Amino acid sequence: MKVLIIGSGAREHAMAWAASQSPRVERVYAAPGNGGTAMMQGKVENVALKAVDLDGLLAFARREQIDLTVVGPEQPLEAGLVDLFREAGMKIVGPTKAAARLESSKVFAKDFMRRHRIPTAGYHVFRSKEEALSYLDGLSSGSWPQVLKASGLCGGKGVIIAPDVETARSAVHEMFDDRIFGSAADEVVVEDFLTGEEASVFALTDGTSYRLFLPAQDHKRIGEGDTGKNTGGMGAYAPAPLVTPEVMWTVEERIIRPTLDGMKAEGCPFTGFLYVGLMIDGGEPSVVEYNARLGDPETQVVLPLLKSDFVDALMASVSGELWDADFEMHPGSAATVVMASGGYPDSYPTGLPVTIDPSLSSMPECTLFHAGTAYADGRLTTAGGRVFSVTAMGPTLKESLEAAYRGVGTIDFEGAVFRRDIGARAL
Ligand code: AMP
Ligand code: GLY
Repeated sequence: MKVLIIGSGAREHAMAWAASQSPRVERVYAAPGNGGTAMMQGKVENVALKAVDLDGLLAFARREQIDLTVVGPEQPLEAGLVDLFREAGMKIVGPTKAAARLESSKVFAKDFMRRHRIPTAGYHVFRSKEEALSYLDGLSSGSWPQVLKASGLCGGKGVIIAPDVETARSAVHEMFDDRIFGSAADEVVVEDFLTGEEASVFALTDGTSYRLFLPAQDHKRIGEGDTGKNTGGMGAYAPAPLVTPEVMWTVEERIIRPTLDGMKAEGCPFTGFLYVGLMIDGGEPSVVEYNARLGDPETQVVLPLLKSDFVDALMASVSGELWDADFEMHPGSAATVVMASGGYPDSYPTGLPVTIDPSLSSMPECTLFHAGTAYADGRLTTAGGRVFSVTAMGPTLKESLEAAYRGVGTIDFEGAVFRRDIGARAL
């Protein structure tokens, strides 16, 4: 069969890698893919179509008679790619536009959780500066910090944690007057600050049944010790020891099951990958956010840990037979370390040559996933902020981390930055 993966990050490289291992798959297309998918020998090939080129993607999928399409990032989901493919009779993994509101509208997600009594931070929604300011001014001194969130998609940047009323007021001005998040902040959620530790749980679902990947933790800040600016994610590991079997049971009973049942009852069943971002405090999980897709860099650890056939599970999910599918995990752990361009998450150079020491190929425990790279005329160059995600598996978290850092040591480009403390807190 032929599989089309939509997106261009390390998450999509990992999906293409996993899909290409399925004996039933003869060809994997990545649209647009990256240097890593371009360099994969054999089954994988890039297609020069952007992830948001809905009509182009549909025309390609029809022409090539693609058997299964998998959506990586959120923008095409919000734009209705899944609806378009389904109307055309094509098999696709992902939620419809209406179901993707769990990610694309924080107001929808918060109201949904309230309707279905799913644990999450208390919140208020504001549609004007005046309402927001008068609410914030009225809060008692014990209510701080508060968290301000643009409702719409902001590439992970739309969240401001305000320690005091002055910071919150200036965030409100930036959102409503300066429009720093554009129309994504037409509605603003102000929510209570949750304490605890974060982890992410990912489910593959057909709308009724679901299967869980191993729980993961990522590292969102650029600097060691979780300092500095927020990024797309600088590393991840799984399974996260914080998510004990008891916590996982609570997540399933109080969050995943009610989310899927609630979406179905409201007429927009959620299909595809459900990402639940959790805050866990004293063993009690609450939802920080939903995403309607797999995480990046978490995919680069949760997919290599899937032992059974990825494509078989995806096919079972699109035909509503996930309950019957194999979904078996490898024992042990996986870790991934992101290598980014100097300057990221602010501005950074691109087009820098990359060298990879041949010794990497004698490290079977390591798998190199590319993110912002380009490959042309036999040359590999940097092409984005996050450049690589170096994954390794091992019998323990410690061993997988050590192996991932050995892999990092074989890669060189000017100004490369990476965190040296991925997974340190869990050790
Ligand atoms: P989000 O885009 O909603 O995931 O928020 C980005 C990050 O902000 C999260 O990963 C948390 O670290 C933090 N955050 C968001 N909401 C809260 C909250 N209510 N309490 C504490 N931290 C939060
Ligand atoms: N790793 C965070 C995300 O994918 O949104």
